[in-house]
Amino acid sequence: MMISITSGKGGVGKTSFAVNLALALSPEYRVLLVDADLGLANVDVMLSLAPQVTVRHVLLEGRSIKAAIIKSGYGFDILPAASGVVELVQPDSEMKGALELGLRELDNEYDLLLFDTGAGISPVVLWFNCLAAYSLVLYTPEPTSITDAYALIKVLSRDYGQKNFFLLANQASQKEGEQYYVHLTRVINRYLGLSPYFLGSVPKDPELERSIRLQRPLLSFKRESKAAQAILKVGEELKPFFQKESLKAAVRF
Ligand SMILES: Nc1ncnc2c1ncn2[C@@H]1O[C@H](COP(=O)(O)OP(=O)(O)OP(=O)(O)O)[C@@H](O)[C@H]1O
Ligand SMILES: [Mg+2]
Repeated sequence: MMISITSGKGGVGKTSFAVNLALALSPEYRVLLVDADLGLANVDVMLSLAPQVTVRHVLLEGRSIKAAIIKSGYGFDILPAASGVVELVQPDSEMKGALELGLRELDNEYDLLLFDTGAGISPVVLWFNCLAAYSLVLYTPEPTSITDAYALIKVLSRDYGQKNFFLLANQASQKEGEQYYVHLTRVINRYLGLSPYFLGSVPKDPELERSIRLQRPLLSFKRESKAAQAILKVGEELKPFFQKESLKAAVRF
């Protein structure tokens, strides 16, 4: 099953959440974390890895997608993106075709493909969300982040057929996350006719900032921290969805 981790506004915490969620679900599930910010890699940096083969070699030099997969060292695998490769920022339809084929093949070998997308509504972000059975949209308790989350969901649902959304508040207390969820989901329900599933809130936690500086996932060394506990809970919330078949057509919430 493919799930995209995405947001309207940048810097809300997608990559740090994705890395920790991948760890939370491993090794119970075979997880491949795909760095879907193709031309501006982040996942490898967050894990202090230096991949030799990346999606650049796959899409521009004809290497096989499997040749680019590396072990994270934390129980899940990674498909690394390239750093500073302009051609990959907006891949053409040929590249997207090849990538889709490769990802669908990998989808058979892993239980879960997690896409760590870039922010916003650029074509490549929308494309990854389209491919995914579910879009997990992160927001922070700021009006701009909420507005951008709504804009992304609107475009995806109206123009790209994505109807399955999870919402997750990051850097938010439980109360704040819930308040914004209620607000956001009311508008989504009213104008888009959808009911996104709320996954909860991950608090602002200095330990998470420290883990980023250390280039190690928080869950690998501070499982008892507040953010780590919240992310583990999100993992538990998600598990029932993995049992269901990823039928893109149906609205399931
Ligand atoms: N739960 C949290 N507690 C404290 N700080 C956080 C938390 N989540 C994210 N951050 C901070 O937000 C910054 C951005 O996080 P991250 O790189 O994961 O965001 P992103 O959404 O992937 O960004 P981009 O849109 O550029 O890809 C981190 O460097 C970290 O300082
Ligand atoms: Mg990121």
